Amino acid sequence: MTVAIDLLSPASFADGQPHEQFRWLRANAPVYRHPEPDGPGFWAVTRYDDVRAVGHDDERFSSVPTIMIPDIEEGLGFEGHQMMLMSDPPYHTRLRRTINREFTPRAAERLRPRIRELAHQIVDAVVERGECDLVVDVAGEMPSFVIAELLGLPLDDGRRLYHLTETIHAAPETQPEGAALGAVLEMFNYAHGVVEEKRRRPGADLATQLLEAEVDGHRLDDIDFNLFFLLLVDAGGDTTRNLVGGGMAALFDHPDERRRLDSDLAGRLPTAVEEMLRWVSPVIYMRRTATGDVELAGTPIAAGDKVVMYYGSANRDERVFADPDRFDLGRTPNEHIAFGGGGPHFCLGAHLARVEVQELLAEMLPRLAELEPAGPVEWLASNFISGPKHLPVRFTPGRRVSARA
Ligand code: HEM
Repeated sequence: MTVAIDLLSPASFADGQPHEQFRWLRANAPVYRHPEPDGPGFWAVTRYDDVRAVGHDDERFSSVPTIMIPDIEEGLGFEGHQMMLMSDPPYHTRLRRTINREFTPRAAERLRPRIRELAHQIVDAVVERGECDLVVDVAGEMPSFVIAELLGLPLDDGRRLYHLTETIHAAPETQPEGAALGAVLEMFNYAHGVVEEKRRRPGADLATQLLEAEVDGHRLDDIDFNLFFLLLVDAGGDTTRNLVGGGMAALFDHPDERRRLDSDLAGRLPTAVEEMLRWVSPVIYMRRTATGDVELAGTPIAAGDKVVMYYGSANRDERVFADPDRFDLGRTPNEHIAFGGGGPHFCLGAHLARVEVQELLAEMLPRLAELEPAGPVEWLASNFISGPKHLPVRFTPGRRVSARA
């Protein structure tokens, strides 16, 4: 049987990730030459071991000029500045060192009590209504509040910035021309205001820390700051939201697993969140560019070729995961690579994201009683980020209560 392969069309992602295509590619063409209507084409890498090999090898597979499949348009090169996500060691290492310590497991644990309060506040805002959009009203609130908190901004501004990232990520055909660029500029404008404010009134927050950071003996300039700001707001927003939305959609589709979770929520939550990460894989791909001629799984790749790692496919690789299409909330081991395959760009926010999602589910599942879908799930029209855009739900209205200890 052959399967039509199209990993660019948002239609392929309209019901979640295209697992049928991925399965075929892993079996028949694990390093597949994919055509690209507006570009030279790219190599789609779909097996777990190959994805990890590419992600680890920053010498042969570079993150410059970009990690998206389309090349950066002329004039959008930010005057020689590089965003951390789109840079290579050793410069990348120096950039990452400026904020690393705010994202360690210990730092994430320090934030847990505050994240728990935020989860409580988010659920309180919907609990009396008996219905809501789980993606917009619950899942999306958490990452926007947390990043605002980290950067030392008002929570409402976090929400506004997060809406800008949605516009930045949306497929071009779903919005007016120039909308994404407009959203980037609005984000930079806002970041400029933050610089002025934090210079006047420095705080114990990440924005102030970035302003004071030095790379190679120099302070970050305004463009560096803007790029860092955009990355931090952007990277943790719809990824975390989609994990919660996609994870809940999976729970609705697997009532036995949901009962298993409900029967021992605190005990099962850690492995459940890992399985949701594997299952949803909110980041569909990251691209690298070959720095020289190289071979990958026996396929010759030429210098300058685009090489694209498909995490959602790697996370269903039957060579690594037993019964990979089974949603198993107790799965161990579960060496998924939803946060990347462990190379230098491994997700900086991985520990924080886990705490956010664990706390939100711990608050939401018991309090939104008899939670069930109230309409069809609508998935994001994107070939880069996967998750539901809307997930209408109903539940037995409850009462606002004082926060968990
Ligand atoms: C479920 C939620 C999340 C998922 C699935 C996710 C996934 C990823 C992936 C796949 C990468 C690229 C890894 C690579 O190239 O090897 C990445 C990088 C990154 N993530 Fe996350 N992420 C999530 C949440 C967050 C959060 C909450 C933050 C911070 C607030 C964050 C900040 C970053 C940053 C800064 C990078 C770039 C790291 C670098 O270039 O060194 N992420 N993430």
